[in-house]
Amino acid sequence: MPQWFKSTIDPEDALLQDELKSTCVFPRHIGIIMDGNGRWAKQKGKSRIEGHIAGVDSVQDIVEACSQLGISALTLFTFSIENWRRPKPEISALMKLLIKVLKKETPQLCENNIRLEVIGDLNLVSSTVRKTLEETIEQTRNNHELTLTIALSYSGKWDITNACRTIAEQVANGTIAPEQIDENLFAANLSTASLPDPELLIRTSGEFRISNFMLWQIAYSEIFFTETYWPDFRRDKLYDALREYQNRERRFGQTSEQLKAETLRKQA
Ligand code: IPE
Ligand code: IPE
Ligand code: MG
Repeated sequence: MPQWFKSTIDPEDALLQDELKSTCVFPRHIGIIMDGNGRWAKQKGKSRIEGHIAGVDSVQDIVEACSQLGISALTLFTFSIENWRRPKPEISALMKLLIKVLKKETPQLCENNIRLEVIGDLNLVSSTVRKTLEETIEQTRNNHELTLTIALSYSGKWDITNACRTIAEQVANGTIAPEQIDENLFAANLSTASLPDPELLIRTSGEFRISNFMLWQIAYSEIFFTETYWPDFRRDKLYDALREYQNRERRFGQTSEQLKAETLRKQA
């Protein structure tokens, strides 16, 4: 595994980052569906777990690049509720890998002002995994540069159902009236309440689907699909996604002319 946060930034890389930064158009929150570890491994005659191990190197590189670019939130889809249907040995190897990486990298997260958060149904996760996550969350909780959220045992439908249940309980005990339920209140009851919606969603491995990731939160995300398998997705590919993001026109229902007129008004 490479060292996290190389002490010096490669000059060529610094140039690319400066170029991206110069446009000032940055997503505050990036979500990534990290897919293709198994196919990457198969292509190389390796085991699926070797694919997952190689995927950790990509996580490290992307976290480092996001941190250097000043992105404030990165959410990584690490394990879905549906992934519990995978073969038991693969699940157990994935959980062991997660524990190992968390234990090893927590000091690096602290050194680089990165806060770890987790979203997902942790009732399904073993107590050892839960404990390790809690330790890292506790140790990094005062960090404030980048919020790195791991979506573990997560599904968008689970998130929405959970929010519904919490709100229904509040209505039932009289804390809120049904008329008070609006989009803001609903979003405040999702597991991502403290995060802005992701402006950019990336999915690797050439699959064109969402696979039950943040369903509510991606209502207006720009989606970037790439054929690259996750273990090959390094910062150069992230920069491609960011460049494409910077060139997209986010209209939110308005017309292009309206947006241009607004920009001119602001510049006047
Ligand atoms: C993503 O890679 C990792 C997880 C979902 C845990 P996959 O394991 O899904 O890789 P493919 O899709 O089989 O190539
Ligand atoms: C999506 O990948 C979940 C994660 C990346 C954690 P999958 O490989 O599980 O997605 P499907 O099943 O092919 O849609
Ligand atoms: Mg997959």
